[in-house]
Amino acid sequence: MNNVQTGSTLHDDRTGVSALGRFGAQASGASGRLLPEIWTQDGAKRIEQALARLLCAEEDGGTELMAAMRYATLHGGKRTRALLCLAAGALVDTPAHMLDDVGAAIEMMHACTLVHDDLPAMDDDVLRRGLPTVHVKFGEATAILVGDALQAHAFLTLASLDAPGDNRIALVRELAQAVSAEGAAGGQAMDLSLVGKHVELDTIVAMHRMKSGALVRASVRMGALCAIAEDAAHAALYCALDRYGACFGLALQVVDDILDATADAATLGKTPGKDAAARKPTCASIMGLQAARQFALDLLHDAGEAIVPLGPRAERLAQMLQRANAYLLKHAPCA
Ligand code: IPE
Ligand code: IPE
Ligand code: MG
Ligand code: MG
Ligand code: MG
Repeated sequence: MNNVQTGSTLHDDRTGVSALGRFGAQASGASGRLLPEIWTQDGAKRIEQALARLLCAEEDGGTELMAAMRYATLHGGKRTRALLCLAAGALVDTPAHMLDDVGAAIEMMHACTLVHDDLPAMDDDVLRRGLPTVHVKFGEATAILVGDALQAHAFLTLASLDAPGDNRIALVRELAQAVSAEGAAGGQAMDLSLVGKHVELDTIVAMHRMKSGALVRASVRMGALCAIAEDAAHAALYCALDRYGACFGLALQVVDDILDATADAATLGKTPGKDAAARKPTCASIMGLQAARQFALDLLHDAGEAIVPLGPRAERLAQMLQRANAYLLKHAPCA
């Protein structure tokens, strides 16, 4: 390829080692207490516990709908969006108990988008997180309602937070925007409209920013919005978080496109080769695998550059980049 401009100087990176930018090096040298595996594992566990509590089996009267909601949310997933929220929250000292609920709300919303994405009218997929998809297991009508109810539960969780009203409104608005016609819903509509079409990379990038990127970017912002208003005094913070979240979110979908074309079902927990089978244009199909891989690495690098001004306080955000980088290198090694 064909250099794709991602906002910083491109580098030729076959190993990904330098993809984290200056911040990665700075943070690992500075603190001497980097234990990313531990906090991400602990964070994911806390999110599981919050989800189990918020979608409590004892309070559902044993309905199939609630059982299906738990099935959709509690069985796996990398918890990337929730961890991004925790990482941004740590940066601004958001209380942990609040982050757990906000992270869980984000994962509910993410699960909603996955359940609907898998429906026969959308991607018609039968495997998700290594298990039969919700409509396969519970039927199509229940799967539609699972998405609806998870979305409602996500907003209820945010509205019920032990936080000042202004913060709760900001969080609700942020999540709503991320899945609106200008976010995931609009991106999914675009995805369906492009089936079988030859399109420019710019179009795919715009679609990816909406269908997946918007929720990832919101997840980062929501960690901060729990504690800090987006006002003039914090413009630089939100500018850095926005750029980080936008690059991370786009990289996440580019990696997903690559792995759809290259990984097996055991790795993906999903049906491989779905995009090509459905004639969906993706970053991988348009750019080629190696260029798409480099594109993802460049985006992660740019995300690292974006948080340099935040200094060592942003070390967990940097660690999330290391995690994404390692995931890409492990599952899509250079050919
Ligand atoms: C899958 O997202 C859907 C996309 C937006 C690419 P993830 O790869 O984060 O899925 P889980 O949550 O780990 O299953
Ligand atoms: C879907 O993208 C993104 C959303 C769920 C909004 P994909 O259709 O590529 O996601 P997977 O591959 O099924 O997880
Ligand atoms: Mg899809
Ligand atoms: Mg899909
Ligand atoms: Mg995919």
